[in-house]
Amino acid sequence: MNVVELIIQKRDGHAVEPAAIRALVDAFTRGDVPEYQVSAFLMAAFLRGLSDRESTALTEAMLHSGEVLDLSSVPGLKVDKHSTGGVGDKISIALAPLVAAAGVPVPMISGRGLGHTGGTLDKLEAIPGFRTDLNVDQYRRQLGDIGVVMIGQTSEIAPADKKLYALRDVTGTVEFIPFIASSIMSKKLAEGIDALVLDVKWGRGAFMKTEADARRLAETLAAIGTEYGKPTVAWLTDMNAPLGYEVGNWLETKEAIAVLRGEQVPEVTELVETLAGEMIWLGGKAATPEAGTAEAAALLRSGAAFEKFVELVRAQGGDVSVVENPALRESRPVCTVEAPEGLRGTITSIDPYALGRIAIELGAGRKTADEAVDPLAGLTILKKPGDFVQPGEPIMRLHTLHSDRTGSLSERAAAAFSTAGGTARGDLLVDRYWQGTWRGAR
Ligand code: URA
Repeated sequence: MNVVELIIQKRDGHAVEPAAIRALVDAFTRGDVPEYQVSAFLMAAFLRGLSDRESTALTEAMLHSGEVLDLSSVPGLKVDKHSTGGVGDKISIALAPLVAAAGVPVPMISGRGLGHTGGTLDKLEAIPGFRTDLNVDQYRRQLGDIGVVMIGQTSEIAPADKKLYALRDVTGTVEFIPFIASSIMSKKLAEGIDALVLDVKWGRGAFMKTEADARRLAETLAAIGTEYGKPTVAWLTDMNAPLGYEVGNWLETKEAIAVLRGEQVPEVTELVETLAGEMIWLGGKAATPEAGTAEAAALLRSGAAFEKFVELVRAQGGDVSVVENPALRESRPVCTVEAPEGLRGTITSIDPYALGRIAIELGAGRKTADEAVDPLAGLTILKKPGDFVQPGEPIMRLHTLHSDRTGSLSERAAAAFSTAGGTARGDLLVDRYWQGTWRGAR
């Protein structure tokens, strides 16, 4: 394979043969092609597009870059969920143990922060000691033992995605349907699931800016799932404002813990219960998604979901004491942002993209692939769309070690709020996309 020719072929808008895409992915996974050449290919594909045939080849190559797991030794229908990424999206942390508490095994493989969005792995690792690097044997064993396991891509499962994901994050090649679909579905299909629930986000804080694009992504993802015999439900959800109140790794984990403890956290609890309902239904433990949602709400209220989370954290080496008492975890210096002159009235919008970028500057995300994140950095939103605000009132808290940046970041944070024009957030749950035939528990 001549990589330069491949790059030029794509750069000039020509189709690339599936075999060449496979060869490139395999060589990159082995470490035989340098990142600068793969980056160039990614950008050429991003700008020129990939056909269905090329996209299918990419997904196949990524899926088979490692093992495709067989979890049939673990009883029950295994169901996972994946989000296309948003700001403040801590759903998986509450969702996986909740669904496991309903008796549906959840084998979850997640990613790190990508672009302006956070990643579940970084959030879990904000719990001191929590290990996300289990090998396949440990993964399978833990799923059988406690019904839930949450890890990152390994060198065994979809290793190509692990490498490509990190490269896309720092080369401006994230927001592209064939890349997102192949990234998500390669790791989901490799992890041994029977069914999948997707949270496809659209809006200013999502990779898909329009509802129409999100629908296209949902259709693409569901079509891949169906082709591989995995019933796939996709929810289109609104990401025109950050989800919940916290943005940043530990801050978000703490908010997810509040949900697991039965607190009604606006937006977050609603989305967790809805997606859990779908998973419990697909896992054969409820007759309908709505019945699954009711079951999920009951498990949050009873404390069973929180207990399962504690079991998960203990199994993966995490410090259970900070989960049981989040106030024990150290915190970062805080700077309060006040509403500037001119910000008066009902808040109609908070730009989630701006907040995602600010969180990175505070230390919560990466600007280069090998940068470490500060687990305790981030921001807390004190006023949400629909709330009334007047100048001088606190609207946000910044948590950071970078005190030299808080001045300019406070200004940027305040500018993300608007009381003029636009509309306060509409429905969080925009639409449900489902074309399968699964009937649920009988
Ligand atoms: N989530 C993923 O796993 N990959 C993407 O490309 C985007 C969101």
